[in-house]
Amino acid sequence: MGKARSKLPPKVLAVSSGKGGVGKTNVVANLALALIRKGNRVLIFDADIGLNNIDILLGLTPRYHIGHLFNGEKTIEEILVDGPKGLKVLPASNGWQELTMLDNKKKMLLMEELDRLMGDYDYLIFDTAAGISSNVTYFCSAAHEILLVATPEPTSHTDVYALIKVLFQKHNQKQFKMIINSVKSEREALGIYRRLTDVVDRFLPHVSLDYLGYILYDENVTRSVRQQKPVVELYPHSQVSQCIHRLSEKIIETRNQIPEEGDRPFLWKNVFEVR
Ligand SMILES: Nc1ncnc2c1ncn2[C@@H]1O[C@H](COP(=O)(O)OP(=O)(O)OP(=O)(O)O)[C@@H](O)[C@H]1O
Ligand SMILES: [Mg+2]
Repeated sequence: MGKARSKLPPKVLAVSSGKGGVGKTNVVANLALALIRKGNRVLIFDADIGLNNIDILLGLTPRYHIGHLFNGEKTIEEILVDGPKGLKVLPASNGWQELTMLDNKKKMLLMEELDRLMGDYDYLIFDTAAGISSNVTYFCSAAHEILLVATPEPTSHTDVYALIKVLFQKHNQKQFKMIINSVKSEREALGIYRRLTDVVDRFLPHVSLDYLGYILYDENVTRSVRQQKPVVELYPHSQVSQCIHRLSEKIIETRNQIPEEGDRPFLWKNVFEVR
């Protein structure tokens, strides 16, 4: 405890939600840039492999995507794209339907390649697809921390609960962190969080759902999406950017508080053994 480590092992975060369109990709892109601002090296993996998102949001035009790794045409280094401020991105394909359900061989190859890259980063963030498909549960289970995004819409609560349930019952995941997006106030976010924890406590008592923070609804987000630039870059002093910086601070704090789980090199291999 309290020991100073010159270099912490890389931390893998998955951002997921069950429901689509709740702000996952925006959270990933902006959180990544906020972490970079605080001196971290960050790699985003667009884990919505069949339908690219993150490169569009960042205004990038990648030449290759992860499909080229799977068909043997490119190495992972050749696929990596430079984003703003030193951010690195592994882009997904656009419409390669066969990648929407990765088979074990592809998962293994991907994890080996990511494992090899990881030494160069402090954070690897998975931007997952919506839903509860096997790709989604796979990437969530492969992360150290699962960050769940919900909004005030009731369907987002039922969908995030469905995701928690499947991750717990089928993949033995017990810990989740909530980000409540598109709210008018923190009070609203806390109300939503409380309602979710009530349901989780009642029906899934072994699951712990922590509150990571909230993001205000802000038209600047929509404007930034249209301009294909992250809101923390385009409107750095907006309230929504402050929310994202607070989230990144909490992520950094908890990283330092929680003792690293043994010297386990990485979770990938464990994920395969369990399945
Ligand atoms: N805090 C916010 N304030 C205002 N609008 C927002 C906010 N967060 C997200 N949005 C809007 O919601 C839209 C969807 O966001 P985003 O693409 O990040 O969602 P997603 O969960 O990644 O979607 P998908 O499930 O399709 O991958 C954005 O285009 C943006 O306009
Ligand atoms: Mg998305």
